[in-house]
Amino acid sequence: MIDPWDVGGEIDYAKLMKEFGIEPFQPLLERIEDPMHLMKRGVIFGHRDYERIIDAINNHKPFAVMSGFMPSGLPHFGHKMTMDEIVWHNRKGGMAFVGIADMEAHAVRNLSWEKTREIGMSYIKAIIALGLETNSVIYFQSSNERVKDLAFELGEEVNWSELKAIYGFDGETTLAKMFATSIQAGDILLPQLKFYGGPKPTVVPVGADQDPHLRLTRDLSSRISIFALEEIDGGYRVRSRKGNSFLTHLGNLDFDAKIYDEHVDLFGEKSEIESKIRELELEIGGYAFIPPSSTYHRFITGLQGGKMSSSKPESFISLFDKPSEAGKKVMKALTGGRATAEEQRKLGGQPERCVVFELYTIHLLDDKELERMERDCRGGAILCGECKKLATERVEIFLKELQERMEEAEGRLDMYTILM
Ligand code: TRP
Ligand code: SF4
Repeated sequence: MIDPWDVGGEIDYAKLMKEFGIEPFQPLLERIEDPMHLMKRGVIFGHRDYERIIDAINNHKPFAVMSGFMPSGLPHFGHKMTMDEIVWHNRKGGMAFVGIADMEAHAVRNLSWEKTREIGMSYIKAIIALGLETNSVIYFQSSNERVKDLAFELGEEVNWSELKAIYGFDGETTLAKMFATSIQAGDILLPQLKFYGGPKPTVVPVGADQDPHLRLTRDLSSRISIFALEEIDGGYRVRSRKGNSFLTHLGNLDFDAKIYDEHVDLFGEKSEIESKIRELELEIGGYAFIPPSSTYHRFITGLQGGKMSSSKPESFISLFDKPSEAGKKVMKALTGGRATAEEQRKLGGQPERCVVFELYTIHLLDDKELERMERDCRGGAILCGECKKLATERVEIFLKELQERMEEAEGRLDMYTILM
């Protein structure tokens, strides 16, 4: 079980993939033109149904990218990773949706609405500063009637045993926390509402801890549909989940059909049947959601090793840290260095165990620089002191520039539609 609200220490990514059916990302790389650095570097290690997104990108079809942020503490380098993923997909032609999960923060972390509003705005400024396009949809959950209505309807499809099985909820779990799960499903399916142009592939970039939400939402996306498809020889067997009266519409589609009391068998090209049924479903008032796709990135390690914790500011770099303070944190970070300089010159450092190298990989160096750094580290040509100085410089420059851009973003907020 993964508890999205309490992620433990070490994560066994291979096991996670095997147990929950997350696919490895790496084999997709060759089909993506100019992949994002986090994809190339294996930081994004897994996905569900990302082929759909590649198809949309490569063939210029409409698609969306959606993710949410719980405003319980200021955004840090971990959130920046998700923001960069949203912006990357946005540049590739995806319509971007950014949800500020104030209802979740309120229900799960007991924060006041004023506090979640204030912290939420810092996430919005950050993602705008990182390059989000002006036609994106930005909202606070509590202000989004569409999300809340959809969440309620999705809730009709979820029962207690299921929540218990997915999230490990027990007799102490509050109704608000349970509702936060279907609110998140509402976030994820929002881009596919008629109001936003109807069903479209949607990718949700998240950390692996959020996968339970995706499994639930993917299930719900089909369970809430009117028609259920089951593959048969030469086509699909179609049932109606909302009463057999809906089956009568199926005979009017241009396919060879065998009509039974409880189902209709349609014969023909499968993708054609799928898209015709989707159209029909929309026509008669259904949602016809496409199951959302997702990408999963690794967690970033706390600066001292172990887990990042919002109650320990020295364990992470916030995007709002004073650059000099952030620099000091980097100087104190855990490295993959050896006990003595002499040993390190001889054996080389261990970048795979180094938090500084992780910062390089995720945020600070381009491909060439990263390659050279890895070589120099492993070969013992650079020692951690010198290396950390470089990392410190990079972090300070980055934060200084970002903070300027965030300030500038504040003056540009009115160019965005923000539901708040
Ligand atoms: N639960 C997520 C978190 O804790 C935030 C979130 C809310 C989210 N809605 C979402 C993430 C929709 C992805 C998609 O960080
Ligand atoms: Fe990490 Fe740099 Fe030391 Fe290598 S030299 S272990 S990358 S701090």
